[in-house]
Amino acid sequence: MEVANMSEELQLIPISVTVNGTSYQHEVEPRLLLVEFLRKTLGMTGTHIGCDTSFCGACTIIVDGEAVKSCTLLAVQADGCEVITVEGLVKNDKLHPLQQAFSENHGLQCGFCTPGMLMSSLALLAENPDPDVKDIRKRLGGNVCRCTGYQNIIKSVQAAAKNLRED
Ligand code: FES
Ligand code: FES
Repeated sequence: MEVANMSEELQLIPISVTVNGTSYQHEVEPRLLLVEFLRKTLGMTGTHIGCDTSFCGACTIIVDGEAVKSCTLLAVQADGCEVITVEGLVKNDKLHPLQQAFSENHGLQCGFCTPGMLMSSLALLAENPDPDVKDIRKRLGGNVCRCTGYQNIIKSVQAAAKNLRED
């Protein structure tokens, strides 16, 4: 019985996930969190882990167009999904307008929360190209920053939105 339990524990499940436009096939333990899959299996450490409680939002990524906290999903739940991480924002060595705006408006200090802030903001701007301060505060309510006081983050999102609208 014990042997059967052990082999169940070690069972690996094949998954296929597209991350930043590249398709990856791996066999993973059923309990592997999506954030660990990204960081450890794929080596994409831009997605951060700031808590164990689904609170901080540092691990936010885009899965099939929705911003999600990747510490709340299992890797097997992403099977067949399209994922975008912060590594996917740079195109042709050029920062994404959100990254540029965060840089120009001092939207970060230590930068730990920034990948999650960027990905939540990306989802917001995809839905609402002209968000007001209330919209931004509401959307970023699940992302915690311990450094900036949030004002410059809001300014950054508004600047990026403006640049994207004018593009
Ligand atoms: S690591 Fe904090 S919400 Fe996912
Ligand atoms: S910039 Fe340091 S936690 Fe946000």
